[in-house]
Parts: sequence; C-alpha cells; structure tokens
Amino acid sequence: MLAITIAILDGLPDPVLLVNSRRSVVGANRAARELFVGSIVGNDLAVALRHPAALEAVDAVLRGAAAREAEITLPAPGSPSYRLIAAAIRSDERRGDGEPAVVVTLQDLTATRLTERMRVDFIANASHELRSPLASLVGFIETLKGPAKEDTEARARFLDIMHTEATRMARLIDDLLSLSRVEIEERVPPRDAVDLVQVIRGAMDLLSMRAAERNVTLNLDCPAGVPSVLGDADQLAQVFRNLIENAIRYGRADGRVAITVRAVERIPERGVPGVAASVADEGEGIPSDALPRLTERFYRVDKARSKALGSTGLGLAIVKHIVGRHRGRLAIESKLGQGSRFTVFIPSVAFR
Ligand SMILES: Nc1ncnc2c1ncn2[C@@H]1O[C@H](COP(=O)(O)OP(=O)(O)O)[C@@H](O)[C@H]1O
Ligand SMILES: [Mg+2]
Repeated sequence: MLAITIAILDGLPDPVLLVNSRRSVVGANRAARELFVGSIVGNDLAVALRHPAALEAVDAVLRGAAAREAEITLPAPGSPSYRLIAAAIRSDERRGDGEPAVVVTLQDLTATRLTERMRVDFIANASHELRSPLASLVGFIETLKGPAKEDTEARARFLDIMHTEATRMARLIDDLLSLSRVEIEERVPPRDAVDLVQVIRGAMDLLSMRAAERNVTLNLDCPAGVPSVLGDADQLAQVFRNLIENAIRYGRADGRVAITVRAVERIPERGVPGVAASVADEGEGIPSDALPRLTERFYRVDKARSKALGSTGLGLAIVKHIVGRHRGRLAIESKLGQGSRFTVFIPSVAFR
C-alpha cells in the first residue's frame, strides 16, 4: 500500500514526506528525494529538516492538530524558502508504527518571493521618481510665497522650471498607467490587421517638430506591399513613438534617423513570418554591458543626462511589454560612437 502511495506521490511536483506517529520519515516522493539528497527514509524527520518551525508544526499534528503551516528556509544554495504544510492522515483503521500519520508538503516560495521583491522595488522606484519633481515644485512654491514674492524676474524663471517639473510628473504618470494597461492585456493577443507602415508614418508626423528642434532628418525606407501585421494599432503606435523619440533624443543633433520596414520570412527565435521595422540613429551608442538592462523599468544609461532631457526611463519597458503581447521580438544593436538600431519584429496576418 505504501509503495503504491509513493508511486502516486512521485507524480507531484512538490516535495512530499510521509511521517509516522514517532516522527520517522516512512516515505518520500521523487521531488523530496531530490531535494534532500541522502538517506532520509527511516530516520527522524529532524535529520532531513532541522528547522525548528517545521518540527514544531509536525509535532503539533502528531499531538492531534488537523494541520499546521510553517515557513522555512533551507540551507541549500540560494537559500530557497518553502511553505511547509503538515496535515494529519485520518484513518479508521488502527495503524502500526510503519504507517504514515502525517503528510508533509513543501511549496517552493522562491518565485513568489521574487515577484514580491520586484513589486516592492517597483513601488519604491516609482515613488522616488515622482517625489523628486514634486519636492522641487514645493520648494519653488515656498520661494515664490516668501523671498521671491516681489521679484518678477525670478517669478518668471521659477514658473518655467515649475512647468517643466509638473510636465515631467504628468508624463511619468501617463507612462506608469500605460505600463499597467499593457501588463493587464499582455495575455490577450491582439487580433486586428494593422498596416505597420501607416502606423510608423503617423508616429513620424507626430514627432516631426521634435526632430526639427534638433535638426534631425527622419527617413522612411519601405518597399511597396509590406504585409499587414496582427496587432493593436494604438499600442504599435506607442512602440514607434518611443523608439523614434529615443532616436531623436539620444541620436546626433543635425543627424539622420533611418526607419526601415521589411517583410521577413521568419522572425528570429519565433520562426513565423512577420514584418521587421527598425529605427537607427547616429548617436553615441549604448555600452554593451547596458544593453541587457535597457528594457528594465527606470533604467537609464546616464541617469542625470536622461533626466535633464525629460526622460521617464519607462519607454523601452513599455515597448518590451507591447512587443511581448504581440508575440514579437525586440532586437537592440549598438556600436559605441556610431549609433544604435532598435528592430521590432511583429508576426504578420498571414500567420493568423
Ligand atoms: N537610441 C538610443 N541611443 C542611446 N541610448 C538610448 C537610446 N534609446 C534608449 N537609450 C538609453 O536607454 C535608456 C532607457 O530608454 P527609455 O526606456 O526609452 O527611457 P527614457 O528615454 O525615458 O530615458 C535611456 O535613458 C538611454 O540611456
Ligand atoms: Mg524613451
């Protein structure tokens, strides 16, 4: 009977231990045998699990409690944490010593902890980013109410700075909202046929003034008959606004931003047909160690400089999530001193 029970428990992903009324381990499923290398069956549970909270939970069940939980950290590499659940095995039959009285299950909390950690970090970062423009606004308001009350020249200057800071806060909030909207929809693939070239033309028009301010030429190169993609037009517009805006902002003043659209037979690593659209600038480029971090929220290569340019550090994080929702791919290439190229691959409608 025990052998068949263990064989069944072997199919479970979580480690499971069976413990008898004297707290000896009488069975361990495959996941438990892999977790606790060495001989644990036949020994007191304390040999495998020296954790006081774990033993206390099992003892309480042996004394008559129906179930107990404990959170434990194992002394393994990476100190994985687990939720231990000890539950009594109720049986009408009288049981001998060899028979299990408690079933102990371990649930791996590592992934949950990591998600929690990321959420806490994100909230701390977002609050910090919002706090600095707000602190500067409050400072200027106080100055305007006090020392600079009658100084018309200072007032005009301070109002300009306050306007910039308030605009930055508004942009940050807009970006935070779009990020959470994109995340909510991430599991719902978009279903419309979208003309990517038209979307890109729209983004270029919207940014033409910004490009003119830096004397940057926006150039579009695309053959006729590029297939439509399976997409969400608003979100794809957001992707290209972000990429073209970055290319204008971090590219060379008086330089050129080259936008290229092509049909591709296979999207790299995805294997499905699609459209590749790339945005290339002639700026100073991105150091190779920064490349993998670029799509992290609030990551900027040069924090002070990006902030001075009015950046939020969320643009590429939004791009990554939108491309992910489209089951596409984002490729970033850069050569220091020569420029950067961001390529977005989106599956074409033919793939529907
Ligand atoms: N075309 C580019 N050339 C050089 N660096 C870039 C380029 N695009 C993005 N970056 C770097 O990546 C960082 C993150 O970009 P992004 O997420 O769009 O945030 P933001 O533009 O708001 O700072 C930028 O701060 C910048 O350091
Ligand atoms: Mg940006």
